[in-house]
Amino acid sequence: MERLDKILANHGFCSRRGADLFLKSHHITLLNGTRLLKTSQKATAREILIDGYPVDHPDGILILLHKPAGCVCSHDSTEGPLVYDLLPSQWMNRTPVPTTIGRLDKDTTGALLITNRMELVHRLTSPTRHISKVYLVTVDKNLSDHLIELFASGTLMLKGEKEPCLPAAMEIIDQRSARLIIDEGKYHQVKRMFGSQGYTVGKLHREKFAEWDVEDLKEGCWKDIEYV
Ligand code: URA
Repeated sequence: MERLDKILANHGFCSRRGADLFLKSHHITLLNGTRLLKTSQKATAREILIDGYPVDHPDGILILLHKPAGCVCSHDSTEGPLVYDLLPSQWMNRTPVPTTIGRLDKDTTGALLITNRMELVHRLTSPTRHISKVYLVTVDKNLSDHLIELFASGTLMLKGEKEPCLPAAMEIIDQRSARLIIDEGKYHQVKRMFGSQGYTVGKLHREKFAEWDVEDLKEGCWKDIEYV
């Protein structure tokens, strides 16, 4: 149970200070119809109605977005269009504010998790958890079989890193495209892995993050997912 002013502020309806005014100008009740008249009253977001409507995502946000190319995983709009621009704008007024679980580059498409359940950010990005990510990679010249062995070996050192990349599984799809499964998320890892062998990555698409894939999601669309 939390104070009503905290619930309203954390869910982006108003500031904590503005909660009294918000309460005066809206009809807030419990599910049983009891009207809440003081912002100091305690409740849960799940059990209140605001002007008859339940609170959106009362237990926090956890979504899978099919990220399109051209938007950035940042809250700084000077960096370009943001992935957050694709979500309901009120979410950005919530506390904690939603954030991406890991990042994809501006030109990378595919599976991107966004949450404001901050404990999940750590759980799903922690290097010790070995969360798998599946990428479709297109490169600028014909792929060689030796990459399969090298990436699987767990010996590939990337510039500036102290530890080699963990073993990664690569499957050649055709001359210039491959599927790569990695269980970690070093900075620009896929581009750097191929770059270390003289390839430039063109298109990069993340098909799957952990158990979540974007097969049934159009670019720019998102859906709620569950993680307990
Ligand atoms: N690796 C990269 O190089 N870029 C991404 O966006 C994701 C993984």
